Amino acid sequence: MIVAIDGPAGTGKSSTSKAVAAQLGLSYLDTGAQYRAITWWMVNNGIDIDDPAAIAAAAGKPEIVSGTDPQAPTISVDGVDVAGPIRTQEVSAKVSAVSAVPEVRARITELQRSIAASAANGVVVEGRDIGTTVLPDADLKIFLTASPEARAARRSGELKGADVHSTREALIKRDAADSSRKTSPLAKADDAVEVDTTELTLAQVIECVVTLVEEKRAGK
Ligand code: DC
Repeated sequence: MIVAIDGPAGTGKSSTSKAVAAQLGLSYLDTGAQYRAITWWMVNNGIDIDDPAAIAAAAGKPEIVSGTDPQAPTISVDGVDVAGPIRTQEVSAKVSAVSAVPEVRARITELQRSIAASAANGVVVEGRDIGTTVLPDADLKIFLTASPEARAARRSGELKGADVHSTREALIKRDAADSSRKTSPLAKADDAVEVDTTELTLAQVIECVVTLVEEKRAGK
């Protein structure tokens, strides 16, 4: 069972994907963490983020490893645990530029496909282009949405009191960049089920997705 969950930032993708995977005994892959990890490596190695050729030339260098236990997902670069450092505002502001570079996407997409192929019990993969590009044959595709206000409120809560207005502006900027890039932009697959989470609690979104997976498993 391969479940693809895509959508913009702040729609509840990570919390939902982790909980659904844990509840159903599936592995979990956070593809945004992989793009953040490669971005962190570029920043730390002095690669000019405004120079796509420099990013492309370095794209194959870092070794990125994702742990797929939904109860305790991990992410490391060259053996260093980067779960904390990849969530800084600096990485968030730079990740769209790095992830727009085709060589970066090719590298990370290959990694994602091999992780999905080796997940024995199935996997929930969350991201932006999973249903459209990475795993177009996924058994179930879900596209989560929410109003910009709801997304900013959730994200600023996660960032422990960050200003809602500036969080909203940063999210809108990142979504615009992620949706307008040439190579596999953020997009809903034609056969994805869209779930608007604006008025739903996290528990309701989880329940909705678990039901969709169970219906799929039962062949409905
Ligand atoms: O899910 P997130 O906010 O941690 O993702 C960080 C960035 O990574 C996002 O702004 C765009 C990029 N990304 C991507 O291009 N493709 C994916 N499948 C997942 C994330």
